[in-house]
Amino acid sequence: MNYFEYKDGVLCAEGVRLDLLAQKVGTPFYCYSTATLERHYRVFSSALPAGSLVAYAVKANDNLAVLKTLARLGAGADVVSGGELAKALAAGVPASKIVFSGVGKTRAEMRAGLDAGIYQFNVESEPELAALNDVALAAGRRAAVSLRINPDVDARTHAKINTGTAETKFGIPFGHARAAYAHAAMLKGIEIVGVDVHIGSQITELEPFEQAFTIAGDLIATLRGDGHTISRLDLGGGLGVPYEHNNEPPPDPTAYGAMVTRVTRDFGCKLSFEPGRLIAANAGVLVSEVIYVKRGDARTFLIIDAGMNDLVRPAMYDAFHEIVAVAEPVPGSPRPKYDVVGPVCETSDLFASERPLPELKSGDLVAILTAGAYGAVMAGDYNARPRLAEVLVAGEQWGIVRPRESIADLVAKDRIPDWLED
Ligand code: LLP
Repeated sequence: MNYFEYKDGVLCAEGVRLDLLAQKVGTPFYCYSTATLERHYRVFSSALPAGSLVAYAVKANDNLAVLKTLARLGAGADVVSGGELAKALAAGVPASKIVFSGVGKTRAEMRAGLDAGIYQFNVESEPELAALNDVALAAGRRAAVSLRINPDVDARTHAKINTGTAETKFGIPFGHARAAYAHAAMLKGIEIVGVDVHIGSQITELEPFEQAFTIAGDLIATLRGDGHTISRLDLGGGLGVPYEHNNEPPPDPTAYGAMVTRVTRDFGCKLSFEPGRLIAANAGVLVSEVIYVKRGDARTFLIIDAGMNDLVRPAMYDAFHEIVAVAEPVPGSPRPKYDVVGPVCETSDLFASERPLPELKSGDLVAILTAGAYGAVMAGDYNARPRLAEVLVAGEQWGIVRPRESIADLVAKDRIPDWLED
C-alpha cells in the first residue's frame, strides 16, 4: 500500500504532481511519501507484541527527513556505522532506542555509541567483543551487548543478501555461542543483555524467520541454564516487499507479527526489530526523463537520465522494479517493449529488459517504483554524474531534502597534489 497514484491523468505523490515536481527540481530525483512511511511504520509496529522496539534500519534510507519522520512516530534506529549513528541522533532518534549492528565496528565507532548512551551493541565476533570491552573500560562504562548468532538458516533470498548461513561473514556461529557468552560474562566492560538474529533481506516467506526465531529461543533457554541473564531478543529485519505488481500475495506484516507473537510468547524477552525495506521501499520512487528512444536491430532502448549510479539494485542484484509513465496511459493504448537503460557506459546499466510500457518519447517522464529503500543510499557519482536530488512530500507540501549536487561541487571534491600544480 502506498500513496503514489494517478490523479487527473498524472502520477502524484500524495497531493503533489510528479510532473510539476520535475519542472521545479529537475530530473532525475527520488521522491518519498510521508504518508506511506508512516503507514508502513504503524502497520508493522502495531502487529508486534506490546513493548517491542522498532529500530528502523537506517541503511535502507538514511535521509535525515525520513529519519525524523519515523523518529516522530516513536521509531528507534538500527545503525551500522558512526555516520549512521550521527545521522540518527541528528534526526532526533533518542540514543536509548539505537541499536549498533555490523561486523566491523571500529573502536572510534564503539566509543561514539558508548558516549551517546545507546540501547545496545549487537556484537558479531569474539575479537569485536574484546575490543568493545577495552573501549568501554577505557571510557569508564559498561556496554549493553547482545551477541548476534548465525543460526545457519537459509532465508531463500538473493545470495547477495542472504546473511544467516554458515558461509556468510555474519554473526557468531551457533556452535560457538555458549563459549562466546561464557567469555563475555567474564568481561567487566560488557553487560550481556540478550541475543540477536538477522538472517537476510527481502525474505518473502515466514518459515525461515520462524526457524531462526525458534533456534534463538532454544539458545536463550540454554544460556539461562548456564547462568546468563537474557532479557532482550533482537529479531533483525528482513521482511520483504512486493516489487512486482502481479498476483503474488505480498509478505504480510500482520502475519509476521502473529507468528512472532506465537513463537516468542514464552521467551520472556523484550523484543526489538530492525526493519528497513518494509518501511521505506514502497515509500519512494525515482523520477527520470526520457532522453532518447533508440531503435536497435534487436531491441528498442528507452534511454533515461537516471543511471545505475542513481539506482544500482537492478545491476547489482538483477532486481525487478516496476516502471510507469508519469502521464497516465490511455486504457487500451499500445504497449511496445523497451529496454530501459541509463546513460552510464556499462551494459549492466539496465533497469528493465523487454518491458511493455506505453509509447514514450524524448522528454516524457517515467517513475521507477519501490525505490525508497537501498536507492539513494547506494547512489554514487560514477561517470562523474552528480548525486541526484531527493524530495519529501507530505500531503500538498513538498521539500527538497537533499539538494542535487552540482557539477562544480563534483569537480571541487578532488585535490591536485603539489607536484602537479602548474
Ligand atoms: N538489520 C541488519 C543487521 C541488516 O544487515 C539489515 C540489512 C537490516 C537489519 C535491514 O534489512 P531489511 O529490513 O531492509 O531487509 N542493498 C540490498 C539490501 C541489503 C540489506 C543489508 N542488511 C538491496 O538493495 O536489496
